[in-house]
Amino acid sequence: MKRLLVTGGAGFIGSNFIQYVLKNRQDVELLVNLDLLTYAGNLENLLPVQGDRRYVFVRGDIRDRALVRELFDRWTFDTVVHFAAESHVDRSLLEPELFVSTNVLGTQSLLDAARDHWKTEPGNKYSRAYRPGVVYLQVSTDEVYGALGPTGFFTETSPLSPNSPYSASKAGADMLVRAYGQSYGLPVNITRCSNNYGPYQFPEKLIPLMLHNALEDRPLPVYGDGRQIRDWLHVEDHCAALLAVLERGQRGEVYNVGGGSERTNLQIVRLLLSQLGKSEDLIRHVPDRPGHDRRYAVDSDKLRAELGWAPRHSFEQGLEETVAWYLANPGWVERVVSGDYLAYYAKMYGPDA
Ligand code: NAD
Ligand code: TYD
Repeated sequence: MKRLLVTGGAGFIGSNFIQYVLKNRQDVELLVNLDLLTYAGNLENLLPVQGDRRYVFVRGDIRDRALVRELFDRWTFDTVVHFAAESHVDRSLLEPELFVSTNVLGTQSLLDAARDHWKTEPGNKYSRAYRPGVVYLQVSTDEVYGALGPTGFFTETSPLSPNSPYSASKAGADMLVRAYGQSYGLPVNITRCSNNYGPYQFPEKLIPLMLHNALEDRPLPVYGDGRQIRDWLHVEDHCAALLAVLERGQRGEVYNVGGGSERTNLQIVRLLLSQLGKSEDLIRHVPDRPGHDRRYAVDSDKLRAELGWAPRHSFEQGLEETVAWYLANPGWVERVVSGDYLAYYAKMYGPDA
């Protein structure tokens, strides 16, 4: 893992991953971040690595096949870490087509480029030989498995049963990654992670949204009865899991990544309010999300046992640190909420960029 293509690196998890890799892996020679800078991409998230000579930012679309091929030609990557996606369930209910286009076709564009550039005999359709050490990592989600009842956990062999256009598009992408592994022998991995929290998360997702509203004494919109369960993982623990798979994972395998920290949405909101010293009177129950999955929980024993990974943050301590980060960075939140962060690219790269 010396020359990485990271897609979607201006988003929440991608930007945390880029910071984590450049800080902790001195043997990385080059890291190219390909990001379209949709509403979810924010270059401010990458200010800490801006001066790192190994880091290159390219604004572009993963669905732009010519661009993706040109990047492979120019930089000879040995590793792809694919984060770029439309990632919000509520938006997917409004605009499912965009999710299929970005999440499914975007993934296929990257898979084609990786296969064609990494094959040692690209003209030979029967050859399954690839340059040594190359790997394509698909960053997926536990949501592809669908919803669970009050007990049990999804394992890597559980059937995929997605319920939202978002999770269906991610499941479609996973199936393509699997197929490229099976049909072409491409060295692939898929990780399926539970809900992340931490710095730089866009305030449309539960934790930063509730935090922001609470700080402004605005109502906290809890869907339905608020007893839906998610398994929360600190984003840094997710980044460590991705590195473990890249460096020690068995190619062709799927690895679940879970925090072992199941909480109801109401528990999260109450904990946030108590950490902020705000009243629970701010909680407002609003109509439920259509098709709302009741519970997600994955079994990550395979990742723990085979690759020696374990989360380092307890949920309570991780949430406290996250709250502290948002409180210490009011400018970041303000620029995101006001939309000013969208002007950041022009400011950084000039008006014609
Ligand atoms: P995010 O929405 O914060 O970031 C997505 C990034 O992708 C943005 O920077 C956006 O500009 C970029 N992007 C979107 N369309 C693009 C395109 N066509 N070409 C290039 N770039 C494009 O998402 P996130 O929360 O950081 O999630 C990253 C990945 O991890 C996603 O694939 C998501 O499915 C997966 N995941 C997220 C979670 C979670 O809790 N957030 C959990 C498990 C898995
Ligand atoms: P979210 O952060 O959107 O992640 P996901 O839907 O991918 O799990 O939502 C987490 C949980 O919080 C989910 O059960 C929906 C709920 N939720 C609310 O109750 N109110 C809100 O305003 C949001 C954004 C989410």
